[in-house]
Amino acid sequence: MSKTIIITGGAGFIGSHVVRLFVSKYPEYKIINLDVLTYAGNLENLRDIENAPNYLFEKVNILNSDALENVFQEYKPDSIIHLAAESHVDRSILSPLDFVYTNVVGTVNLLNTSKKFWEKDYSGKLFYHVSTDEVYGALGETGFFTEETSYDPHSPYSASKASSDHFVRAYYDTYRMPVVVSNCSNNYGPNHFPEKLIPLFINNVINKNHFLFMAMDSIPVTGFL
Ligand SMILES: NC(=O)c1ccc[n+]([C@@H]2O[C@H](COP(=O)([O-])OP(=O)(O)OC[C@H]3O[C@@H](n4cnc5c(N)ncnc54)[C@H](O)[C@@H]3O)[C@@H](O)[C@H]2O)c1
Repeated sequence: MSKTIIITGGAGFIGSHVVRLFVSKYPEYKIINLDVLTYAGNLENLRDIENAPNYLFEKVNILNSDALENVFQEYKPDSIIHLAAESHVDRSILSPLDFVYTNVVGTVNLLNTSKKFWEKDYSGKLFYHVSTDEVYGALGETGFFTEETSYDPHSPYSASKASSDHFVRAYYDTYRMPVVVSNCSNNYGPNHFPEKLIPLFINNVINKNHFLFMAMDSIPVTGFL
């Protein structure tokens, strides 16, 4: 069965792996990578699949509801996999509003556009929201989180992701939009942006830096995942 799936944030670290997986595994699906290409987005991450016949890239900001509507009008997506976000904890401490705009307002924009195009018939539709386990706060030395764990965010980043999770759940409760929220733990691997902990440490070891600090875009980065 053919489907059209929009993957937001597809030029970022995790998104680029998700895009590649879907483009390769489901040649009968049309995969639209929707990304505004912030400092964290890099189309080099997708060079190997950029000419695949089932892959398209749209440079769109999720804060721009007109542009989102144009994309929905053109491609009539069946599903959204929503990864676009401001994702770096240190940056959220320096600039919380950017996180409110992208992670909260951007997500609500995307929900509204999906609702507008899908609400006559939600069958076969899915809004899959990728969130983080950081919405549950800090884990003790033992134990684990479940979907029943109370939300307890502590950074502007996790507070913005928690807020977006609540909106996604509210669109199910209020409008019966089919949604899934997943709250994964830290990821690492190829294409990880070098401000994050593991690539930061590896780069510092390779370059024999004595301090695990570095400045990127004038922001001191201390190495949160
Ligand atoms: N990296 C992790 O370990 C981790 C863990 C748990 C959850 N997550 C979640 O997974 C998702 C992806 O994380 P990541 O590490 O790949 O992030 P990332 O920062 O590497 O990529 C984010 C992508 O979103 C795009 N983007 C940002 N603002 C946008 C906007 N306004 N409009 C359109 N595109 C925009 C960026 O250009 C970039 O390509 C995020 O929602 C994050 O909260 C990540």
